[in-house]
Amino acid sequence: MSNNTASQKPVNVLVMAAGLGTRMKSNRAKVLHELGGSPLIAHVVRAAQPLKPQAIIVIVGHQAEEVERAAIAEAGELVRSVMQAQQRGTGDAVESARSELENSDSLVLVLSGDVPLIKSETLRKFIEYHNNAGAACSILSVRLENPAGYGRIIRDANESFQKIVEHRDATDEQRQVREINSGIYCFDAKELYRALRKVEPANDQGEYYLTDVAEIILASGGIVSVFLHGDSREVSGINTRAELAEFENLMRRSAIRKLMIEDGVTFIDPSHAYISAEAQIGRDTIIHPDVTIEGKTIIGEDCVIRSGARITNSRLGNNVVVKDHSVVVDSQIESDCAVGPFAHLRMNAVLEEKATVGNFVEVKKSRLKRGAKAMHLTYLGDATIGERTNIGAGTVTCNYDGKNKHETIIEDDVKIGSDTMLVAPVRVGARSMTGAGSVVTKDVPPDSLVAGVPANVKKKLK
Ligand code: UD1
Ligand code: CA
Repeated sequence: MSNNTASQKPVNVLVMAAGLGTRMKSNRAKVLHELGGSPLIAHVVRAAQPLKPQAIIVIVGHQAEEVERAAIAEAGELVRSVMQAQQRGTGDAVESARSELENSDSLVLVLSGDVPLIKSETLRKFIEYHNNAGAACSILSVRLENPAGYGRIIRDANESFQKIVEHRDATDEQRQVREINSGIYCFDAKELYRALRKVEPANDQGEYYLTDVAEIILASGGIVSVFLHGDSREVSGINTRAELAEFENLMRRSAIRKLMIEDGVTFIDPSHAYISAEAQIGRDTIIHPDVTIEGKTIIGEDCVIRSGARITNSRLGNNVVVKDHSVVVDSQIESDCAVGPFAHLRMNAVLEEKATVGNFVEVKKSRLKRGAKAMHLTYLGDATIGERTNIGAGTVTCNYDGKNKHETIIEDDVKIGSDTMLVAPVRVGARSMTGAGSVVTKDVPPDSLVAGVPANVKKKLK
């Protein structure tokens, strides 16, 4: 049976996220704990967004501001938050949004902030099912091998829905039921808030249970439908850090599997690679054990990333080698470059094609142009290094005078001798050389050899 009028009602999403989550044993609200690099609440909001709801209303309590901020970071203006100062149960959580929703001619899709794997597609089907049933209330259920702790779906002799009973309030017989309430519901807004007035905290915990609404709607003649979903993992909530780690592992394994199967990336040991779900990696790139790739990193084809490397929010071209234990953060490495071992690139370091950075080299907010090299024990900060220029071992750009940062510019085809100190602001002209141990305090003209402390021009090279 389809009900066209009902199916045209807009959807408001309500996310319950006020609880602390006692079993996390944390000072942080549970929904702020991160999974795959983003807070749990962000995952739920992300799943709700494609439903094009009128609003995503987040019920906040513990660390309200931070929870609100995390939701807004994901869905912007769609998000509104409602404060539930005291957590008196899921019924009370929904009650907190009464003034926003009770007179609206809409559907209310209720989600929990701690159920991060829920898929948009499932929610879409659930709403469709609700509409087709002409229901005032629909409950998304799953069957579990071990249903302990969950609310049970109690049906009558005809298999029709009767009520939800919480585990702690259930009889031994009711506890045998394997079909459980996932905590995801769809309601007609007006029916929901009418029924909610009748909910009493008459249970073991003395809380207002949202689950009682279903029975109340049924008693008043409304239709309650149950949508039995096949994938129980998708709707399982996170209650402990052990479960959080399990989910993290699951997400990681599926991201790596996709990279191997669909994108042609080689993992030497997929069980010891840590790759964000947002990362993109090109064909025939090889990832060695114990590599961490975080955030929106993009890596090209035919790259080799060796053990212990961490690459965060960075972009790598094709055929790049990142050797062992290098850290690359917010930076860009173009094709055919090599980095490390033990290199550190940060704050928008840019390596143009065929540039090389060797061991114990730090590059901060600097650009190495095509084919430039800094192979050993060097600090390059706020610097521009010209094409084919070679930076000798132990070179330091002295970019900080105690108050301000200054720039070093080294032009093309320069040879900086070992242990040169470049006191910025300073410029070294094209094709020049510095002698070992030079302290360069003045600009060096092109085609010159400078040396000494402070360095002076010794001869013209051309
Ligand atoms: C709830 C259901 C149970 C279901 C289970 C699925 C009730 C009474 N029971 O139990 O039938 O099987 O979910 O996971 O609803 N929250 C608030 N304010 C409150 C209380 C809770 O915002 O006052 C939030 C929590 O932060 C959490 C969500 O609501 O995100 C669920 O609350 P929780 O206490 O975990 O409910 P369960 O006991 O798991
Ligand atoms: Ca729960």
